Amino acid sequence: MTPKPKIGYKNPFSAMLEGISAVFKKQEKAGEIKEEDRLEGKTVLVDGASSGLGFAVALEMARRGARVIMACRSGIPEKGEAVKRRTGNHDVEMIRVDFADFTSVKNLIAIIREKYAPLDIVISNAAMVPRRSRKTPQGLEEMFMVNYLSKFIFINGLIRENCLRKDGSHIPRIIIVSSESHRHPPAFDWENFGVFMDYGMGKTVEYYGYYKLLLTTYAAELSRRLNHNSSAPVSVFALCPGPVNSGIAREAPGLFQPLMKLVFALFFKSPEKAAEPVVYFATSADIEGKAFDYLFKMSRKEIDEKAADETNGAKLWRLSEDIILTLSGPPSSDLTG
Ligand SMILES: NC(=O)c1ccc[n+]([C@@H]2O[C@H](COP(=O)([O-])OP(=O)(O)OC[C@H]3O[C@@H](n4cnc5c(N)ncnc54)[C@H](OP(=O)(O)O)[C@@H]3O)[C@@H](O)[C@H]2O)c1
Repeated sequence: MTPKPKIGYKNPFSAMLEGISAVFKKQEKAGEIKEEDRLEGKTVLVDGASSGLGFAVALEMARRGARVIMACRSGIPEKGEAVKRRTGNHDVEMIRVDFADFTSVKNLIAIIREKYAPLDIVISNAAMVPRRSRKTPQGLEEMFMVNYLSKFIFINGLIRENCLRKDGSHIPRIIIVSSESHRHPPAFDWENFGVFMDYGMGKTVEYYGYYKLLLTTYAAELSRRLNHNSSAPVSVFALCPGPVNSGIAREAPGLFQPLMKLVFALFFKSPEKAAEPVVYFATSADIEGKAFDYLFKMSRKEIDEKAADETNGAKLWRLSEDIILTLSGPPSSDLTG
């Protein structure tokens, strides 16, 4: 029997209304994006860069002079070519990855280690909202894998394989694109962690928020594990871009598509504008050495207290490692070691 989720309910319609109201919320800015904060000499990896926010971020990173690695499932090579053409920066590479597939994520880590490391900035952006739950090649629930577990595997793998710059010239930055929807679930459902859930369209938004809660909890725990001394050897930043006029709802039923496209186009921000918090985290000198930070659009906020809780962070880490163990065998070393 399929276990019942205990993660609160938000339907796609209420999520859309909440998105509209978020657009009109005025908030104090955490800082300024400065034209002089350039990225020459830095290597930036951005995943999910074939469309929407990720593509806009890849453009801006290239425009600022970075070497850009776009890890994508689709759009190869045309999206990378478009970045080169539009920015005049030809130091742009694409790597194919399917974050639903454990083997593909492991291959991505190996390719980066062999060809592109060290990375200065890692932007973990890819996500999806499926029409209904589906199984990955390894039998996990697809949105759980793409929106949460693959990020745990990928980022931890990069760190374990020494893919981040460590020459002391500056502190590497890991930037995790989450969502304010991480605040919606009333509690963690530890009993059913990683269990395949059978759900349809009415529940996808609820699970989307739940996986963003897992992701934000992971971001906070990762920062604690990496930065247990007072100095920060790696900065971990998380953010919600606010509502973006992107194709994130592309799997919604055809009947709703015209209304959604209209609402997205009228009220939601362009990917370029929505990319501001990512660009700020990637470029700002003002946050150099900060262990952790979270932005909702361009304003600083505390993450949800469930996500900030150390016990939850430790439990999430252990349970995630347990799943990976069943997929692959034990990790070669502890991140804190
Ligand atoms: N849109 C919003 O209103 C909103 C609000 C808050 C947060 N966010 C977050 O912003 C981030 C970017 O979303 P977006 O709005 O820009 O949506 P998007 O245009 O749909 O971009 C999502 C990206 O993720 C990639 N992706 C999906 N599944 C993948 C897989 N299995 N393997 C590899 N790549 C995969 C997509 O690749 P394909 O092109 O191959 O599908 C695409 O490049 C996400 O983390 C999202 O949760 C969005």
